[in-house]
Formats: sequence, C-alpha cells, structure tokens
Amino acid sequence: MSTATMTAPATATATKAKPRVFSGIQPSGALHLGNYLGAIKRWVAEQDQNDNSFCIVDLHAITVPQDAAALHEATRELAAVFFASGLDPDRVSVFVQSHVSAHAELAWILNCFTPMGWLERMTQFKDKAAREGTERASTGLFAYPALMAADILLYDTDLVPVGDDQKQHIELTRDVAERMNTRYGKDLFVLPRPHISTTGARIMSLAEPTRKMSKSEPEGSLELLAPTDVNRRKIMRAVTDSGREIRFDESRPGLFNLLEMYQLLSGQAREEIEQEFAGKGYGDLKKALAERVIETLRPIQERYNELRANPDHLEALIRRGADRIAPRAQATLKRVQTAVGLG
Ligand code: TYM
Repeated sequence: MSTATMTAPATATATKAKPRVFSGIQPSGALHLGNYLGAIKRWVAEQDQNDNSFCIVDLHAITVPQDAAALHEATRELAAVFFASGLDPDRVSVFVQSHVSAHAELAWILNCFTPMGWLERMTQFKDKAAREGTERASTGLFAYPALMAADILLYDTDLVPVGDDQKQHIELTRDVAERMNTRYGKDLFVLPRPHISTTGARIMSLAEPTRKMSKSEPEGSLELLAPTDVNRRKIMRAVTDSGREIRFDESRPGLFNLLEMYQLLSGQAREEIEQEFAGKGYGDLKKALAERVIETLRPIQERYNELRANPDHLEALIRRGADRIAPRAQATLKRVQTAVGLG
C-alpha cells in the first residue's frame, strides 16, 4: 500500500473507508484464555470489517519491573501468538509500541493535559500500586492511562475492542481527548468507543471464580501455550459449588464461568448447552470444556511453533507492521504538536 493512502487525514474527522480499530496487549506474563476470548478471538473474527492495528505494548510493560531479556522474548512470543491466532499480516498492522516513537511523544503531551486526580481514580493503578506499595510504584505506572490514550488517539481510532477491565482507561482517553478538543478545536482527536462484547468480556479465574483470570495468577489461568495436560488438569480441578443442575446462573460464578467459556468456544446457544448437559454432572461439563479448549489451542500452538522456528520472518512481519503504521502516527503527532504550539 502506498504511503499516501496510509497517511492520516489532515483532520481527525476526515472520511475513512472503514472504522479504525486499535487495541493492545502487554508482553508480560503468560497469555491466557481471558486474553484470547476477551480480545484476540474477536480481533480475528472482525479483521475484514475494519481498518485494524494491534499493538504489543512493551512501553506499558516496563511500568513494572521487567527482566530485559525476558521482555524482549515475551514481545516476540506475543507477536507469534497474534499471527498464530489468525491475524493476517497483509490485512492488519501488528507492531511493537516502542518501534513507533510517536507513542511516547504523544503520551508526554497528554500527560500535561491529564489531571492527576483522574489518574488517581483508575482502579488498575490502585490495584497494582497496592501490590507494589506507592513508595515503590513508578511514575510510569501512574501515567499508564495517558500512554494508553496516546496509543488509541494516534490512529484516529473509532473502536477499541477490549475486555471489561480496560473500559475505565478508554473512558479516560475520551475525557482527555474531549478536554483537548474543547481547547484546540473538535477536529483534533476522534473520540474512541470501547467495543466490549456481552460474553467473554470477563473470564474468571478457575481457582477463584470471583476474580478475573489474570497473568499474575497462574493457578487460575488457562495459558494459551501450556501443554494440553496442564490445562486439562486445571479445568478438572476448577472451583465450583455443591449444586447439581447445569444452568447459566450468575449466582454460581464457578459454574457460570465454565459455561461461558464453553459457549464461546463451541459457538452454541445457551439453551442448547443446557440441554446437552441436562441430567449430567459438573465432571461431564469439565471434560467437554477441556476438549474444546484443547481443540482450540492445538492449531494455535502448532502455528506458533512454526513462527517461532523462523525468527527472521517474524521480525520482518512486526517491522513491516511498524513501517506501515508509522506515517499515520506521525501525521497525528504533528497535528497535535502544531495545535499545542510546539516546534
Ligand atoms: P492486558 O495486556 O492486561 O490484556 C489484554 C486484553 O485482554 C483482556 N483481558 C481479559 N478479557 C476477558 N477476561 C479476562 N480475564 C481478561 N484479562 C485480560 C483485556 O481487557 C485486554 O483487552 N492496558 C491494556 C493494554 C493496552 C491497550 C492499549 C488496550 C495498552 N494500550 C490501547 C487497548 C488500547 C492491558 O494491560 O491489557
């Protein structure tokens, strides 16, 4: 594609052929089924409808301590999972955040327009800072949402497909964008909308089903690259209640979570699933779910291994993603710098 067609329009609201979609995942910790069902699976399913960019957000990862070699490795691992899950490098720009310097540059400007009080209210910061202790938590962790706002606003994004836990950050992105649009003109930024599905937006931990499945809690997490028997064992041991009847009942969070995963992986309707398991026990559901998980992950793991066997090819794919997307980011950055009076 020529640079001319890829360059951002002169104003944020100029006509676009397709809605612009942007989302990202941190290369920290092992990716799990929550990331897949809440984000990646939908990105793949909707890749033709939209103009998509998906980012491996390594600048976000360093807001908490990281081992340098492990971070570099996790970045490649995540890129391989994106392609292995079905994102097509010819249709979608998959790239690494630190390869496009406009992210950090716009983030700085947005920091200067984001009141500290807004950042203090972010639940993810409060949770993470509580774990680290506020004395030790980095300034980067505090300013994390402004960097995320920069990611989204750089591409004149219309839709941000994410799981439920990112909704607050997208609201903050809109607030910052509106604040700057009020001051500098409504054409400065497009206001993005969160794109959160009704099922799968919050996959829960298998060990503690009232908490979300998370990279920081491996016991409750079904890791995308884990050996088959490890995931099977975790599902068979999943915490449920002492009831019998298999029904989509939100007051039974362990069972509800298993059923929701089954629904997403099988593509069946809820009534159909309830009928399938009528008169059967939780053990039957767990066995059937384990099979669905394994069937879903097998081809992804196979493609993943192929991609990882050819590191030069993988590197070329992510560099191509960054080269394709960078002119767009640069154009937006320039627009904002000019509006603010920089340069
Ligand atoms: P991250 O890396 O924590 O998670 C990546 C995606 O997975 C979703 N997710 C879940 N969905 C359902 N159930 C779960 N248990 C679950 N756990 C995680 C997340 O909602 C997310 O969609 N701040 C972001 C990364 C980011 C970003 C962005 C996202 C940086 N810049 C710009 C969108 C747009 C994060 O830490 O996601």
